[in-house]
Amino acid sequence: MKNILVTGGAGYVGSHVIVSLLEQGYGAVSVDNFYNSSPKVYQRLRELTGKDFIDIEADVCDEAKMKEVMAKHDLWAVIHCAGYKAVPESVSKPLEYYQNNLGTTFSLCNAMRQTGVTRFVFSSSATVYGEPQFLPYTEEHPTGNCTNPYGMSKVMNERILTDMAAANPDWGVVLLRYFNPIGAHPSGRIGDAPGGIPNNIMPYILKVANGLLPVLPIAGDDYDTPDGTGLRDYLHISDLAEGHVAALRYLEDFTGSEAVNLGTGQSVSVRELIRGIEKTSGKTLPTEIKSRRPGDIAEARADVSKAKRLFGWETKKTLEEMCADAWRWASQNPQGYEGE
Ligand code: UFG
Repeated sequence: MKNILVTGGAGYVGSHVIVSLLEQGYGAVSVDNFYNSSPKVYQRLRELTGKDFIDIEADVCDEAKMKEVMAKHDLWAVIHCAGYKAVPESVSKPLEYYQNNLGTTFSLCNAMRQTGVTRFVFSSSATVYGEPQFLPYTEEHPTGNCTNPYGMSKVMNERILTDMAAANPDWGVVLLRYFNPIGAHPSGRIGDAPGGIPNNIMPYILKVANGLLPVLPIAGDDYDTPDGTGLRDYLHISDLAEGHVAALRYLEDFTGSEAVNLGTGQSVSVRELIRGIEKTSGKTLPTEIKSRRPGDIAEARADVSKAKRLFGWETKKTLEEMCADAWRWASQNPQGYEGE
C-alpha cells in the first residue's frame, strides 16, 4: 500500500482528499495544526470510510518534524493542501502569508530530499491566471499577474516546485489549479466550516440559509455577464478530491512537472448559485447588491482538456448535486464541527 502525506488533512479540501485516498486503497497520514480546522473531522472520516489513518498535530513549517514523519511512515508522495487562504487578510498580512505558504513548501521539499520522497501534488489555484487574456483559461495562459499576496504565494510555490522538478530528475510534481470547489461529501458528515463571516460565496449563502447571517451581499451586478453577477467554474469537492488521486496515478510513472486545471469547464453566476440553494433548501434568501470586490473578475472558467488527457479525470457531479450536498452538510451542521 502506498502511503500519502496530506498536509492540511483536517481542512475542507484535505479531508475530502483523505476520503478518496482511503476509498482507493492508499494509506493516509494527515499533518495539520488546526489553525483553520478542527480535529473533530478525523473521527468522522474514520466513521465515513470505515478505515483508519494516521493523524499528527504539527506545523508543516517544522522541517525536522516533517522529516521525522516522512521517514517513519514510509511515504510515497505528498499532497500539500495546508495554507493560509483568505484573500483580503493576505493584503493586510503579507509577511505571514509568504512565510507560511512558502515556508511549508521549503520544509516539505527539504524533508523530501533527506528521505527520498519524490512525488508532490500541490494545491494551487486558478487565481494564478489573474485577469483573463482569453477564456477558458488553458494551462498555457500567462500566470503571475495576481493582485494579492495569497495569489502571489501560489504563483511563487508553483515556480519553486517547477524548479525543484527540473533540478531533480527523479521528482514528479503536479500543480493542481483549482477553480471554485463547493459542496460536501454526500453523507453530510464533512464539509466547509469557516468561522465568522466567510470570504467565499457558498459558505456565505449557507450561513444566510441557516439564519446565521441576515443577508447575502452580491458583490456587483454590473458585470458584463448575462445576469450582471460574476461567473465562476464551481466544481464538487468530491470531484476535486478525486482529481488528486488521478494526479497520484499519473505520477506513478511521470517525472517532471505539470500544471493541470481542475474545473468543470462551465461557469455559473452568483444568482444561479443562490437559486440552486433556494431550490434545495426551500428557502428564499435575502440579498443586497453591493459594489464589486477589488481584484474580482467577471468570469473564470477552466479549459479541462488537459486533466482529461493526462489523468483521464473529469467532473461527474452536477450543480444540483453540489447544492444538495452543500445544504445537507450546512443544515445538519450549522456550527460546523463545533456544534457537537
Ligand atoms: N461573491 C459575492 N458575495 C460574496 C462573496 C463572493 O457576490 O459575499 C461573488 C464574487 O464576486 C464572485 C463569486 O461570488 O463572483 C465567487 O467568489 P468567491 O470568493 O467564492 O471565489 P473567488 O472566485 O473570488 O475566489 C476563489 C477562492 C480563491 C481562489 C479563486 C480562484 O476564494 O482562493 O477562487 O479562482 F484563488
